[in-house]
Amino acid sequence: MKVLLTGGAGYVGSACLRWLCKHGHDPVAYDNLAEGNRQAVPEGRLIEGDILDLDRLTQAIKDTGAEAVMHFAALASVPDSIRVPEEYWRTNAVGTKNVLDAMRANGVNKILFSGTAATYSFEVEMPIAETSSQVPQTPYGTTKLAAEHLIKDYSRAYGMGYGILRYFNASGADPDGEFGEDRRKETHLIPLVLFAALGRIDKFKICGSDWPTPDGSCVRDFVHTDDLAQAHQLVLESVQPGSGQAYNVGSGTGASVIEVFEACEKVVGRSIPCDRVEARPGDPAVLVADTQKLREKLGWKPKYDSVEDIVQTAWQWHNRYPQGYKSKHQG
Ligand SMILES: NC(=O)c1ccc[n+]([C@@H]2O[C@H](COP(=O)([O-])OP(=O)(O)OC[C@H]3O[C@@H](n4cnc5c(N)ncnc54)[C@H](O)[C@@H]3O)[C@@H](O)[C@H]2O)c1
Repeated sequence: MKVLLTGGAGYVGSACLRWLCKHGHDPVAYDNLAEGNRQAVPEGRLIEGDILDLDRLTQAIKDTGAEAVMHFAALASVPDSIRVPEEYWRTNAVGTKNVLDAMRANGVNKILFSGTAATYSFEVEMPIAETSSQVPQTPYGTTKLAAEHLIKDYSRAYGMGYGILRYFNASGADPDGEFGEDRRKETHLIPLVLFAALGRIDKFKICGSDWPTPDGSCVRDFVHTDDLAQAHQLVLESVQPGSGQAYNVGSGTGASVIEVFEACEKVVGRSIPCDRVEARPGDPAVLVADTQKLREKLGWKPKYDSVEDIVQTAWQWHNRYPQGYKSKHQG
């Protein structure tokens, strides 16, 4: 299928794009490269453009003959969303409305959307099912939930088919070590620990030590980008105009920050400098996905079920290209 991927030069979008190329589809990225990387996308598969530029986006869908859109483009930093919420509403909500309007103008009626675990209430029981209550605690979460509502409203009014994939913690890198996470300002756990191992930062900071968890650190659910990409392929191939589904995409198993840190030390083969600092306000203690729906309905089978295996792929990428795509370019 011909697919346009907004944000397709970003971390998750580019992993999905490369996966779709290998699995019989014809994807093209549409990305303003604010966070994404040109080199993450195979030659000839990138259109540079902003989702806030409705004319250009409409033209890109027309030119590529896209039959479906995967909408990854977003601003995705929780602390930044608290600092400048208006930018998050513009890109994540207005930007999503543009994507839907550009699709309508071209008669495209299938959309997959990058949802997030950050839309769920912190109070719900673990693991979190898709039916759990969605009460986001940050502007990042509220704008991503607003986008979900927009998609459902357009589906009801105009017969669009949709798949909302609510990711937990996307992680890991291309198993060949050639593509991986590389953003302007890194905030994710595994790359930060590996940056401390490489001396790119002084120390990794473990936030909080008295969370109500077995070792006192937060627990999260890590899912490899190849497994995320497989989920996108399955949802793409199942989505039908006029109806839609939401799916959690996680491993279904929690790992604590300390467990992830220790897995990184094991993979790297040496101790990594770290510090204990205060907990960040607004962080939930535990976030773990119930992934039964995706497994049972679509036959999703994640390949990576241990954090150590995920870290191994990330380390291969960061160790080979310590400055990300910049080192790859120089290398
Ligand atoms: N990484 C995670 O763990 C995670 C978890 C849950 C949800 N998500 C969601 O998944 C999606 C992808 O996340 P990611 O980690 O790959 O982030 P990312 O920042 O690497 O990718 C986002 C991409 O969107 C592009 N972009 C941003 N604003 C744009 C605009 N106005 N026009 C065109 N392109 C624009 C960026 O250049 C970037 O390439 C996001 O929607 C995010 O909210 C990510």
